[in-house]
Amino acid sequence: MTSLLITGIGELVTNDPEAGDGSELGIVLDAAVVVERGRVAWVGEAAKSPAADTSHDVGGRAVIPGFVDSHSHLVFAGDRAQEFAARMTGTPYSAGGIRTTVAATRAATDEQLAANLARHVTEMRRQGTTTVEIKSGYGLTVADEARSLAVASQATSETTFLGAHVVPPEFTDDPGGYVDLVTGPMLEACAPHARWIDVFCEEGAFDVDQARTILTAGRAAGLGGRLHANQLGSGPGVKLACELGLVAVDHCTYLSEGDVAALAGSGTTATLLPGAEFSTRAPYPDARRLLDGGCNVALATDCNPGSSYTSSMPLCIALAVREMGMSPAEALYCATKGGADALRREEIGHLQPGAAADLAVLDAPSYVHLAYRPGVPLVTEVLVGGIG
Ligand code: NIG
Ligand code: FE
Repeated sequence: MTSLLITGIGELVTNDPEAGDGSELGIVLDAAVVVERGRVAWVGEAAKSPAADTSHDVGGRAVIPGFVDSHSHLVFAGDRAQEFAARMTGTPYSAGGIRTTVAATRAATDEQLAANLARHVTEMRRQGTTTVEIKSGYGLTVADEARSLAVASQATSETTFLGAHVVPPEFTDDPGGYVDLVTGPMLEACAPHARWIDVFCEEGAFDVDQARTILTAGRAAGLGGRLHANQLGSGPGVKLACELGLVAVDHCTYLSEGDVAALAGSGTTATLLPGAEFSTRAPYPDARRLLDGGCNVALATDCNPGSSYTSSMPLCIALAVREMGMSPAEALYCATKGGADALRREEIGHLQPGAAADLAVLDAPSYVHLAYRPGVPLVTEVLVGGIG
């Protein structure tokens, strides 16, 4: 097994507070990294680097841990460009738009769904994402949810069963019957392909009692719990997530003081998804309030054809800095280590010895350029498990 020395790193972000400048990002200047067997074997100043079998000089560029996008919906067919255009001229976003994508997804073949997903994962990779969580939720029948998760499993181990995305049209008059399906045969068919279970707890989707029932059933089947909540308005979802000790509660656009206090005392990560506020022309969540309140925060794309059709973590970082009160350092941390924590993955989201060699090289002298140069494709190289 050959070792690789990556040298000439002008600025290395390790996310190891014990390393380098002692900040949360653990920045080492004029740095090098040694990769062996897909893992980081050594990190430090280039002048002190050990010998390796091969070496690669990145010419003074910045290197960061690969982005961990802990929230996406990539198993779908079709797009909703017309819905977006209508929204930009005043039609409000509603949970019901999901049904448009459900119809297109049900009509697609497995091969079409897999090809569409692969295209989006490649797009993410090019922009520095090395781990992505992928939800089902546009099938909403036993067979369509199970095949969505089987397709997602081809791209990631972070698969999430979101049968409770919205009540499908054939159950409009019997939402309770749909909850029974989700917690019964659908869960049974999907659990083997999923690590997580999620519910869209919002007006127009599922209420807090239905969410509790579904999450409890999912956890009894061995899945970890996550929740979409407080996206379109305030509500009890965030408190439910904290009460159940879920790993993450996502969106968190509308939060009361009580919600922030509940999050602060919990192990639940609040995942902020500014692509959704951008694309639905909604107010951005106040990240400053969460960070100052001592909450765990992650940043993710929510990539989906309705409310947030971006695959770009750099865009989310730029929005978080410009619109949500994060510093560039906080935004990068939330997009890497924050996402890893929201997936309970210890070996990713940082570049300490022993971590996965998942990293991105930026055509910039500093990670700050991710927010400073919005919309510019700065990622020039990406390694996953040491392989580019
Ligand atoms: O995270 N909130 C629920 N699900 C998606 C929206 C999906 C859609 O509009 O198709 C979201 O924003
Ligand atoms: Fe989502």
